Amino acid sequence: MKNRMAQLIQSDGRCLFLPIDHGYFQGPTRKLEKPGETIKPLLPYCDAIFVTRGVLRSSVEPDSAKPTILRVSGGTSVVGKDLANEGLTTSMEEAIRLNVAAIGISIFVGSDYEHESLLNLSKLVDEGEKYGIPVMAVTAVGKELEKRDARYLALCSRIAAELGARVVKTYWCEGFEKITAGCPVPVVMAGGPQVDTEREVFDFVHDGLQKGAVGVNLGRNVWQNDFPVAMIRALRAIIHENATPKEAQEIYDSVKKA
Ligand code: 5RP
Repeated sequence: MKNRMAQLIQSDGRCLFLPIDHGYFQGPTRKLEKPGETIKPLLPYCDAIFVTRGVLRSSVEPDSAKPTILRVSGGTSVVGKDLANEGLTTSMEEAIRLNVAAIGISIFVGSDYEHESLLNLSKLVDEGEKYGIPVMAVTAVGKELEKRDARYLALCSRIAAELGARVVKTYWCEGFEKITAGCPVPVVMAGGPQVDTEREVFDFVHDGLQKGAVGVNLGRNVWQNDFPVAMIRALRAIIHENATPKEAQEIYDSVKKA
């Protein structure tokens, strides 16, 4: 467990995860139509990828040394009845065979499927603990993006930690310190849909880190950007070199020009 956690959270206590799991309910998401091509130039700059087994098998070279966080929940789609009605999609044996550093599952607190998703998390933690595999819980909101406030996300994050998640992935929001203050395990930030400017991303990532996040699990705001390598390098500087948002913008602008 300690070895796997160290593959995820680096020796400076920080991490940059690159999620490319969106297709498991969104289909061929913009700029992720060919996941292998999207991630190739980004892999050197991330600490781990968050991926389903299908994309891992089809689009990631097996000799890549990048740690894998395997998405093991799903079974719903954007055109289906309810995104919250997820089950477990991948067995523990498969996760072990794929030599993963962690497994990830969404929970849907407050939804009609709250109970099922929380019990799925608990069962996965039971299995993961047997084999020393950490579970990352994703505090999912489905299509209800307006739910992303500190009170709600602090509730979800704490519940995830109580049920045994070793890492919690939640959204950045105003008052982010409320989330980290009430969550006894490391918290990483997701970005949600692409925002208007790079600077907004640098500002919220920097703010979240000051308020106790250990890093990011940031997808669309990286690979949907017109200059994804510039974006990930700028974010890496904020996360691992304590760059300010202004310095990150300078890195972005200079890599973009190169
Ligand atoms: C999709 C996920 C993503 O991993 C998570 O939302 C992070 O990606 P983004 O920054 O694009 O929101 O869990 O279900």
